Amino acid sequence: MSLDIIIGAQWGDEGKGRIVDLLSADAMYVARYSGGDNAGHTVTVGETIFKLHLIPSGIVHPHTIAILGNGVVINPATLINEIATLRKAGVVINPERLRISYAAHIITPGHQALDAVQEKARGDDPIGTTLRGIGPAYKDKVTRSGVRAVEMLEPAQFAEKIAAQIHQVNRELEQMYDAAPLDPVEIAAGYEKYAQQLAPYITDPSALIHQALLHHEKVLAEGAQGTLLDLDLGTYPYVTSSNPTSSGALIGLGVGLGHIGRVIGVTKSFQTRVGEGPFPTESVGAVADHLRGTGANPWDEFGTTTGRPRRVGWLDIPLLRYAIRVNGITEIALTKLDVLTGLHPLKICTAYSDGSRTYRDLPLGPANLAPFTPLYEELTGWDEDLAAARNWDDLPIAACDYILQIEDLIEVPVRIVSVGPEREQVIHVD
Ligand code: GDP
Ligand code: IMO
Ligand code: MG
Repeated sequence: MSLDIIIGAQWGDEGKGRIVDLLSADAMYVARYSGGDNAGHTVTVGETIFKLHLIPSGIVHPHTIAILGNGVVINPATLINEIATLRKAGVVINPERLRISYAAHIITPGHQALDAVQEKARGDDPIGTTLRGIGPAYKDKVTRSGVRAVEMLEPAQFAEKIAAQIHQVNRELEQMYDAAPLDPVEIAAGYEKYAQQLAPYITDPSALIHQALLHHEKVLAEGAQGTLLDLDLGTYPYVTSSNPTSSGALIGLGVGLGHIGRVIGVTKSFQTRVGEGPFPTESVGAVADHLRGTGANPWDEFGTTTGRPRRVGWLDIPLLRYAIRVNGITEIALTKLDVLTGLHPLKICTAYSDGSRTYRDLPLGPANLAPFTPLYEELTGWDEDLAAARNWDDLPIAACDYILQIEDLIEVPVRIVSVGPEREQVIHVD
């Protein structure tokens, strides 16, 4: 078997956790390769709703081995809490089931404090980060001053490094931002305890994945965030600080070229975004209220990590075509089709106009979307509840037409259609 990569094809929250859970049924390893606890992935199994931030969603199946790759930034407090929460829900977690790359970088309260003051300093043009310290942690990685997971194997020395990092952050907080300093002694003591707990999990997952691929086992790479939040390829600067796109899986797990199988682009049936930045097809009013929901359903559009209401709008095909191109997406998993029930008419953005020309693809990538107006095609909606649909033939004709029209425009097959958050609420399309 091969390395199958599951990526978000939009601005995150496409339902990656739900699709990873579905495709983990026959996987040996499920691996996160980028981002940190800015992610919030939801898996619904019967009455239980798992909200995962760091541990790959595949962990919910009892047979899988979960990996946090070298491309991930780890907040140890979040990880330890997540282990405890999963254990309480009956999920077995031990060093056989969870492997952490020695080369993953560690997030500290210093990174979180910097995230907060830097957001504040941006005034009325913030990024809208999750305030989890993601950007500052990756900044330390890139400037070669970060602390890596391998250091946790020596807890006392690890604590010293953390204390030194907090001292350094304090200089920045006080001198540049006029902000209160953090307590290095207290933080270091906490991190020494985290190290003692997490040391047994640290390994070189790259070698494990390589062996698995040689033995034809299935390895799933679980993307976090989405293509349009990619540091290099997204709507810069309104992006995250890592590479959630498919190539990020290779560098973020230490896997060479040549093993890639399916690249599954998870795409919501409409468009959402949490945080600031361009969103050409954003809707307000009754359409937005319909798409977002009130918060009464667990799947309504409120951030899994921060609880913020998500911005919502119509499906954006030029941006999806872009995501297909830069990720090498081989198939689409279309989620939340059920949410469109009762919305009339439906709209899809099929192209952009700059007033004189029409563009099916973006001329200069997604960063500068301001000069463009979305051009819409209207489609007939449907009123049938899709929750019980399990086959193509169970879908109303208008829903089939909606999917076929998307396929036509993107020239990539839609292989999975999700009609609810539950494992069985899915249609596999031949
Ligand atoms: P992720 O970050 O991409 O894993 O997505 P999130 O978990 O943040 O947000 C997706 C939300 O939609 C979660 O509450 C899922 O349970 C839910 N969800 C996923 N697929 C479907 C679907 O097809 N229909 C409905 N109604 N909810 C879904
Ligand atoms: P999942 O994996 C949606 C957004 C933030 C902000 C920007 C930068 O659940 O899809 P950061 O804290 O990363 O520096 O914030 O990225 N963002 C997400 N939006 N889903 C996510 O993860 C996100 N992770 C980060 O809202 O706009
Ligand atoms: Mg999410």
